[in-house]
Amino acid sequence: MNEHFMKRAIELAYLGSGFINPDPLSGAVLVKDNIVLGESCYRTFGAASAELEVLSYGLCDLSGAELYLNIEPFGNKAKLTELIRVIKDRKIEKIYIGIEDRNPRKEIHFIEELKHLGISCELGILKDECEEMNEIYSHYIVNKTPYVIVKWAMTLDGKLATKTGDSKWISSEESLRFVHHLRQRVSAILVGENTVRKDDPLLTTRLEGVQISNPIRIIISKYGDIPMEAKVLQVDESTKTWIIASELISKEREESICNLGARILKLKEKNGHIDFNKVMDLLGRLGIDSVYIEGGSAVLGSAFESGCVHKVYTAIAPKIVGGNKAVTPVGGNGIERMNDAIVLKRLSYEIVGPDVIIKGYIY
Ligand SMILES: NC(=O)c1ccc[n+]([C@@H]2O[C@H](COP(=O)([O-])OP(=O)(O)OC[C@H]3O[C@@H](n4cnc5c(N)ncnc54)[C@H](OP(=O)(O)O)[C@@H]3O)[C@@H](O)[C@H]2O)c1
Repeated sequence: MNEHFMKRAIELAYLGSGFINPDPLSGAVLVKDNIVLGESCYRTFGAASAELEVLSYGLCDLSGAELYLNIEPFGNKAKLTELIRVIKDRKIEKIYIGIEDRNPRKEIHFIEELKHLGISCELGILKDECEEMNEIYSHYIVNKTPYVIVKWAMTLDGKLATKTGDSKWISSEESLRFVHHLRQRVSAILVGENTVRKDDPLLTTRLEGVQISNPIRIIISKYGDIPMEAKVLQVDESTKTWIIASELISKEREESICNLGARILKLKEKNGHIDFNKVMDLLGRLGIDSVYIEGGSAVLGSAFESGCVHKVYTAIAPKIVGGNKAVTPVGGNGIERMNDAIVLKRLSYEIVGPDVIIKGYIY
């Protein structure tokens, strides 16, 4: 039963996806005698916490009730002290927590405080699921640089596009839907200049039946050399675009891009390139906790060479296009010896429509 209620807390927590970054996804389920008395989740940045909300439900007797939380409650001393007081006053008997809050600056050790008050606390129910859903928070709160997820779709013969650069669409509709869930979760989506030129993507989140949150669209382009009519340059309050350019971008280019409502962020070039580690430092300073890199080949090559990637998704479609000139997913300089290859860890596979999606971690 413990796992059943924790699964529900996880499900609820996911409802905050895209709306609470850089805070953690948090869900709460209140149970007494195996009956759910209340459910809540953190859905809007800065709103009341899921735990406090669920405990404020109704006037019924909560003595002996149990609380299921996917992550240790986070927040400042005043907020957590108030939560602990309510837990004590309402005589909650036991708290089940998926994972600890990794914030190195946390003002209160919630679990320790509860133990001092004699309130039972069990940590680690469905730990792996709880870790994964908040891997963005756990990374950013410690490192202050974005958690980087990369994804590409490729044909069975390992091509990102045909020899003419056509890549619409390699993977199935089902895989494309999967991608939109990733877009919903992150703060920013990043692609290279050529991808904008070749594919003219919108880079927004498109999902049915849920409230949408669009990531900030980031285009990496030294001199802002993208068509002025590109869809990513159609900007409004809910679809923002940032261009990461070199300091050497021309004044005229900068002005015409800014006039369309996009923001230009400038970085120094290093060996004729924009350094990905500098990009991630800058984005982290601007409060971006997660970046989802969607390609193309040159940008993925630079991302892997810089060592900034944490998680990889690859959709393999049962299609063969051939051609020596057709780009492969990860460009850049490449390595010389197979022994030096990046080997993904904690692998999993999923069949999505006719495609296979492989997920793995670099660290
Ligand atoms: N199947 C898929 O999942 C998928 C996804 C995306 C794209 N694609 C395909 O991939 C192809 C485009 O890939 P691509 O390799 O030609 O281009 P790209 O990676 O989209 O863009 C490369 C350009 O980005 C700029 N850039 C700036 N900083 C960079 C850095 N640090 N590292 C690398 N590039 C940097 C460079 O232009 P400047 O030097 O001018 O800045 C470079 O020429 C298209 O055919 C597209 O359809 C496929």
